[in-house]
Amino acid sequence: MPATEKIIVLDFGGQYNQLIARRVRDQHVYCEIMPYTTPLEEIARADCKGIIFTGGPNSVYLEESPHYDPAILDLGVPVLGICYGAQLMAWMLGGKIEHAPSREYGRIEMTASPDSLLFRDMPEKSVCWMSHTDYISVPPEGFNLSARTDSCPCAAMENPGRRLYAVQFHPEVTHSEYGQKILGNFLFNVCGCKGDWQMDNFIEETVKSLRAQIGDQGVVLGLSGGVDSSVAAALLSRAVGKRLTCVFVDQGLMRKDEGDFVEETFTRLFDMNFVRINCQEQFLSHLKGVTDPEQKRKIIGTEFYKVFWDEIRARYSGGFFAQGTIYPDRIESGKGNAATIKTHHNQVKMPADITFSGVIEPLKDLFKDEVRRVGEKLGIPRELVWRQPFPGPGLGVRVIGEVTAERVRILQEADAVLRDEMKKSGYDEHMAQFFAVLPGVKTVGVMGDARTYAELVAIRAVTTDDFMTADWARIPYDLLGRVSNRIINEVDNVNRVVYDITSKPPGTVEWE
Ligand code: XMP
Repeated sequence: MPATEKIIVLDFGGQYNQLIARRVRDQHVYCEIMPYTTPLEEIARADCKGIIFTGGPNSVYLEESPHYDPAILDLGVPVLGICYGAQLMAWMLGGKIEHAPSREYGRIEMTASPDSLLFRDMPEKSVCWMSHTDYISVPPEGFNLSARTDSCPCAAMENPGRRLYAVQFHPEVTHSEYGQKILGNFLFNVCGCKGDWQMDNFIEETVKSLRAQIGDQGVVLGLSGGVDSSVAAALLSRAVGKRLTCVFVDQGLMRKDEGDFVEETFTRLFDMNFVRINCQEQFLSHLKGVTDPEQKRKIIGTEFYKVFWDEIRARYSGGFFAQGTIYPDRIESGKGNAATIKTHHNQVKMPADITFSGVIEPLKDLFKDEVRRVGEKLGIPRELVWRQPFPGPGLGVRVIGEVTAERVRILQEADAVLRDEMKKSGYDEHMAQFFAVLPGVKTVGVMGDARTYAELVAIRAVTTDDFMTADWARIPYDLLGRVSNRIINEVDNVNRVVYDITSKPPGTVEWE
């Protein structure tokens, strides 16, 4: 990995573990998450500048709780324990952990010692985020208490001589006022990191290692037009140019003009073989008469891979197969097994009869925001790099009920109007995702002097950080009014527009 210095985040199963890694990388220090089942020798060999023990859901006294070989604290590498990780450090070294009668939760005022390297350049009193029931009642021998709250005598402890630090609170969440400062103090004051992890270095080093790995062979990538595969394509193009072939299956269920935009971007801006397969008719013929959402998803997915692998079979042999897998696709927190991999659309299952020299995943160590930064640096247009999530089955799950060419056209037109108005008003920047839906309902209307009976279009727009929960966006009425007028005037066969005001839960973001 192209990094001069590295931090290991040892994962004990807490909910914020990916966040810890991201916060470290935000300070330009490269870090990797490793499960707590990673053997000590492997960690010793990793030549890291520091180790962070994450939080975890358990009590250190329980036998089934994740533990670790205490010898990790003798490697001479600085360690920061967070929450469960702090208690684990105390427990490993003979300190005492107790179960409090009630949980300490939320924003709590903390008093921290300005003499501690960890709390340098911040006020003595600040707000930290706590979420724990167990607490360290007696720190291990040789440790000082370096922070406290009213209900937690040991909000932080340290043994500066051994470079061991522990905090009961969560510096990685933004509710901890000086959390980023505290993590930075650990990285720079304690571990002596320089903070030279830059996306420019990443690009340069990755291009170099891709060239070495691929040699004079070819490489094939399935390009969906999504952020991850687009950035992987741009990176591979920089590394091997025309020896990269991108196969873009356009199932005709993308947004208006999107297929053309993807083709134009990659043929004009990047050196590669670009193969576009237009197969809307084929997809629609398989979707004829099908209305069940799960069946539609299945048909679209199956057909997609059929077209894709048939193309590969027909045209390519040997060489490498690349995919746009990113870091969160690979890690599943707390499972304690690096090989546990989520089934994800970024990780493609290969048919048995196709063989490649190997699989290349150039973005496998990056978080989404890092992928986007790489994309921008490689010159991918902003609208592609900052693209909203778009479901794999495309408009197939936004045309409710049967998917026909005419209904896809109506939806594409209506959605294009919405996108245009959102962009003009600047509201697109505030939205996590917005789109039009064709619910398959016809309603009566009046246009001029005539009665109409035409399609209803629904508008969906949500704000969210993680898509697990979402709120409907409070779009100004005037903007909604313009969208509605334009859709009815400009899109044939639509006479009514409604706005979806359902949050998630109980609704989902998509309608199907
Ligand atoms: P839901 O509808 O589950 O959507 O609240 C959450 C996020 O996931 C996207 N989504 C999908 N993405 N294949 C995908 O690749 C799918 O079948 C799919 N269904 C939903 C959705 O657009 C939203 O961003």
